Amino acid sequence: MSAAIISGKEISATILDEIEMEVKRLKELHGKVPGLVTILVGEHPASKSYVALKIKTAHRLGYHEVQDNQPEDISEAELLALIQSYNEDDRIHGILVQLPLPKHIDENKVIMAIDPDKDVDGFHPVNAGRLLIGGDAVRFPPCTPAGIQEMIARAGVPTSGAEVVVVGRSNIVGKPIAVMMAQKAPHANATVTIVHTRTQDMAAHCLRADILVVAAGVPNLVKPEWIKPGACVIDVGVNRVGERVSEKTGRTLPILRGDVDFDKAKEIAGWITPVPGGVGPMTICMLMRNTLNGFKGTIKD
Ligand code: GUN
Repeated sequence: MSAAIISGKEISATILDEIEMEVKRLKELHGKVPGLVTILVGEHPASKSYVALKIKTAHRLGYHEVQDNQPEDISEAELLALIQSYNEDDRIHGILVQLPLPKHIDENKVIMAIDPDKDVDGFHPVNAGRLLIGGDAVRFPPCTPAGIQEMIARAGVPTSGAEVVVVGRSNIVGKPIAVMMAQKAPHANATVTIVHTRTQDMAAHCLRADILVVAAGVPNLVKPEWIKPGACVIDVGVNRVGERVSEKTGRTLPILRGDVDFDKAKEIAGWITPVPGGVGPMTICMLMRNTLNGFKGTIKD
C-alpha cells in the first residue's frame, strides 16, 4: 500500500490562514502588526529565492516587512551595526539574516548580535538553551524542526515511545529536532537516535525508526530498504539535481530532490513528505508564527 503523503503545502496554507486572521484581530485591537526584517547579503541564488518567498509570505499576512539587501562586500562591522539598528527598532519583532554569509563575515558573531527576543530563526545560543530546557522556556523553536514536529502532529503520527532516528547533526535541523522529539511534551516523548557520517551501520539504525527524519543534504542517501514498513519518513533534503524550463513562464527552474528516493520509499512507508512541497513550506510558515509570537510578546492582549 502506498504511504499517506504529508503535504507541507496544504498544512502550511491552513496555518497561514490562521495567522492572517490573528494578525487582523490584533491590528484592530492594537493598531499594530508584526514586523519582520530579512537581511540578505550578496547574490547567492538559492538564498535570493528563499528570501523572496519569505518576503512574499510576510506581505500576504499583512506584516510590516522590511527587505534589506546588502552588497557582498559589506564589512562585518557594518552588518553588526545594521543588526543593532533593528534590535532597537520597535516596529521590528523578527530579524532574519539569511545564511550562508560571505566568508569574511563570522556567522557566529552575526547570530550573537541579534536580540534573542527578535531571533525568529531560533539560532541564538540563548534560544538554543531555551529549546534544550523545553516547556515554557521555549521562545523561538528553530523553524525547520518546528515545521517537522507540526507535520508529524497534524498527520496524527504517534510519537510517545516511538523510535525516532534523525539522519544529520546540524545546528539548524538535526540537533534541535532530536531534542524536541525527546522532550516530555505532546507530540514528542520519543526515543531518539542521531546518526551521522561516522555512524557505523546507518542502515540498521534507520530500519528501527518509526519516524525517520533525514536532513543530510545528500540525494538518495537513504535507500528504500532502510525504511521500516509503515514508518513515517520526513525528508528535509533540498538538493538541486538539474534544471528545467517552466511550461507556464518559460523560466529556468531548479529540479529539486530530497535525501530519500520518494517514488520507491512511498511504497514502503506509512507516511512520507514530498520534495518540494513538504518541509520547505512549513519552515516559512513557522518563521511567520515565530514573528507573530515575537510581536505578541510586546503587546498586552
Ligand atoms: N539558510 C538556510 N536555511 C536558513 C534558515 O532557516 N534561516 C536562515 N537565516 N538562513 C538559512
